[in-house]
Amino acid sequence: MSNGPIQEASVALPTNFRPPQLAVIVPSYNERGNIELLYEKVALALGDTAWEMIVVDDNSPDGTADVVNELSRVYANIRCVRRFGRRGLASACIEGMAVTAAPYVAVIDADHQHDETILPQMLAEALSGADLVVGSRFAEGGSAGDGLSEARLSGSNLANRLAGMIAGQAVSDPMSGFFLIRREAALEAAPKLASDGFKILIDLIVTSARMGKPLKIAEVPYTFRPRHAGESKMNPLIVIQYLGLWVSKMTGGALPPSFLLFGLVGGTGVVVHLATLWFFTSVLIQGEVVSQTTEFLISQIAATMIAMAWNFVLNNNLTYADRKLKGRRLITGFLSFCAICALGGIANISVANAIYQWDHQTFVAGLSGAIMSSVFNYAVTRAFTWK
Ligand code: GDD
Ligand code: MN
Repeated sequence: MSNGPIQEASVALPTNFRPPQLAVIVPSYNERGNIELLYEKVALALGDTAWEMIVVDDNSPDGTADVVNELSRVYANIRCVRRFGRRGLASACIEGMAVTAAPYVAVIDADHQHDETILPQMLAEALSGADLVVGSRFAEGGSAGDGLSEARLSGSNLANRLAGMIAGQAVSDPMSGFFLIRREAALEAAPKLASDGFKILIDLIVTSARMGKPLKIAEVPYTFRPRHAGESKMNPLIVIQYLGLWVSKMTGGALPPSFLLFGLVGGTGVVVHLATLWFFTSVLIQGEVVSQTTEFLISQIAATMIAMAWNFVLNNNLTYADRKLKGRRLITGFLSFCAICALGGIANISVANAIYQWDHQTFVAGLSGAIMSSVFNYAVTRAFTWK
């Protein structure tokens, strides 16, 4: 074996096997009833093209991965990447793209909502020079069909308008989950993409542009279909994750995407803190068990502990849902979270104090302290607690 680039095969390949030109990535979570028919439909659509299907499954409880493995025993061009203890559509797509050598990758939902028959046309657009080809419901000739409810359609319109503000170029369906991209272009942006939520396409477009490599985009219209089997995984958290990405891009990346959610959780933590403080002081006063000073001290300690536990649980389940701590790591994570927040508290008080010394503006000083500690807590817990 030489050490130069590999030029040609030196072992015999099984008959009929050709290296794929196109990898079709299918993110899946509880899609057991959809995979086999999807494979068949894509196979029919792609005909003679050398292609492979990579299903990236987050260890679905319904056993989707087993179904994929059954298929792999029959067809050489399908395999399953199974992830444990992780969730997320965007990161699933990125990891799917990372495990193929095909020069072009397409992302398609498992539930048959996307029209696979346009895949050859999408590939043709890419072969004639587009970096990214978007399957679009809103381009001339496309339609959202019966695939979106009334509420989802208006939500989708709003999301599209927000996306338009950050996209930097015209895209009719920036929230599409159906697209084909040059693998190299996708992998260049990959390290900078947000791993949570559903917004991978808009993220790819904006991130590539910000890296000085704007994607040349083409669109192919199609009609969105109703889901075949199973249920949608869309939920309010995914909406907030999208808004987080939007805020991040609007601030030129100054605020990371998960900061919005971390901040919102912090806001609810303040409410929990004050409510607990009120509850404890009124209960303790009623009982007249201790002196007023001791009473406030005890209540404040209790309120701080409860608010920290509240923030930790919410951040673990929402902000960092894709890397949720479990078991023993839940305990060590909570301890590190508390320790970091205590340091954040010190930072808060010192900054507020310094500003107050300099200019006696209570509100400004207080706010600066609070901002200081939120940024500190965010950055440090991200690096240590949810690394
Ligand atoms: N691996 C993995 N992990 N896959 C996931 C996860 C996850 O946490 N969540 C969802 N998926 C997979 C689903 O199994 C499905 O194949 C695909 O991602 C889309 O999920 P749906 O639950 O069907 O999403 P939807 O129909 O509500 O949203 C679709 O349309 C939106 C625009 O209307 C998606 O294509 C979105 O990307 C798109 O923005
Ligand atoms: Mn769907």
